[in-house]
Amino acid sequence: MFTQSIWKDTAPIYNFETLYNDISADVAIIGGGVTGISTARLLASKGLKTVVIESLKVGGGTSGHSTGNLYVTIDKNLGVLHDKYDRDTLIKVVESRSQALNRIESWVKELLLDCDFKRQNWNLYSATNESDDKIAQELEHARQAGLGMKEADPALFPLKISRGITLADQAQLNPMRYVQELAKAPGENMAIYECTRVNEIEESDEGVILKTTGGNVHADYAVMATHVPKGFDLLQTLLGPYREYGIACRADNIDFPEGIFWGYHQEGKKISSRLYERDGKRYILFIGEPHKVGQSKDNRQHLQVLTDFAREHYGLTEVVYRWSGQHYRPADLLPYIGRRSQHGRTFVATGFSTDGLVYGTLAAMMIADEITGTPNPYTELYNPRRFTPVKSAKNFISENVNVAATFLKDLPGGADKDAFSDIKAGEGAVVNYEGQKIAAFRSTENELHLNSAVCPHLKCIVNWNNAEKSWDCPCHGSRFSKDGLVLEGPAWGNLSRINFSDDLPEELDRDKN
Ligand code: FES
Repeated sequence: MFTQSIWKDTAPIYNFETLYNDISADVAIIGGGVTGISTARLLASKGLKTVVIESLKVGGGTSGHSTGNLYVTIDKNLGVLHDKYDRDTLIKVVESRSQALNRIESWVKELLLDCDFKRQNWNLYSATNESDDKIAQELEHARQAGLGMKEADPALFPLKISRGITLADQAQLNPMRYVQELAKAPGENMAIYECTRVNEIEESDEGVILKTTGGNVHADYAVMATHVPKGFDLLQTLLGPYREYGIACRADNIDFPEGIFWGYHQEGKKISSRLYERDGKRYILFIGEPHKVGQSKDNRQHLQVLTDFAREHYGLTEVVYRWSGQHYRPADLLPYIGRRSQHGRTFVATGFSTDGLVYGTLAAMMIADEITGTPNPYTELYNPRRFTPVKSAKNFISENVNVAATFLKDLPGGADKDAFSDIKAGEGAVVNYEGQKIAAFRSTENELHLNSAVCPHLKCIVNWNNAEKSWDCPCHGSRFSKDGLVLEGPAWGNLSRINFSDDLPEELDRDKN
């Protein structure tokens, strides 16, 4: 396997049941990541019977591929948020995120979760004076938000920098250990089913029915803790799907300070780094290189950029883990959390950008409050039904022009006869064949696996991801395994299988040659 997340490889992976019959609950939650498991635990603690349905393994989607960093600021910088909103919004965002971070710490302590949680300083630096103004602005806006951010001594950073700032009392953990342990911790009223896929939600005045691969789940409410709403949802036009990359290098003999370090490098490129130690092994992690899902010609190249960075700046050459994770950027910079429609029974939680461990926990707190009728001070701020045309316009237009351009570019063209035989073992490509776009993957055993390249969500054409060995949709970020099974994103179902049976022409199939 070319990619493997450090978090998944250093966590206990518990087994939860698979669903094989019809069941009922007060609340049915789709998605067993940090958002889903936290929502279930909060509602269960208030006496509601909750059920979590996860299509893969608990934490196996986004949570197990995240950074593991917890902070009250945001990835886009507080200054950008301030420019769109005001000081009051800054204060509320920071305050709400701080409550979520404290919630995580409380669970870690109360439930004795073995997840390497540690309070740490969060640091931001400019490697050259080209980005010093960004550092100055962040310091100013952090102070406006009431945070005790300070100018930092450059000597305390792991590399030569121009200017740096620091914020104490942020945190880091192993996100896969955290979500697995949180799911496994004792508690009543909570059931988790994994390897069970929801295919559809039916909602009526009486309740919801989740139609799954193992039976129907009847409940009063449904929560889509799926990172992005499933099926068609107007929110998808307000979200930009991105992937970002991570590597972990063995670093047993390197001096590297404790803390989370986000840095601006040449041309404003942002790379973050931090230490992680587990089982007597010491690693330095590097995260960066975001791009739109399904729109990179060579995904491996992004991992190579991080690899080069680790070598050039720290002399690290032993890359032990490589992985990538997905995030959705909201058009007006704030996530969408709450009831999907005014009087509906389905809740959504999306648009967390790369700040999802904290926002996911905040979403759990807000949704649990709304379902139990408890007032929450942030309901309006993160309302998924809010209308912010001025604040959303720029990102809305650029993301949707991008979707339209992608869609038009991929209309079926002419046949490409050599394309099947050109695919190397272990790789995939989209092939035009008799007016169809085919997602063709050639296994290491030299067998061709053929699926339609048409995304079942809204019919864009998927692209091959040569790092993750997956089919990624450039429109709203649905992703499918090399065999076409849905992994994440808004699509409910798989890519449709193409069965040429034996009639794949010999000249197109080198297996037969
Ligand atoms: Fe929307 Fe593929 S994810 S068309």
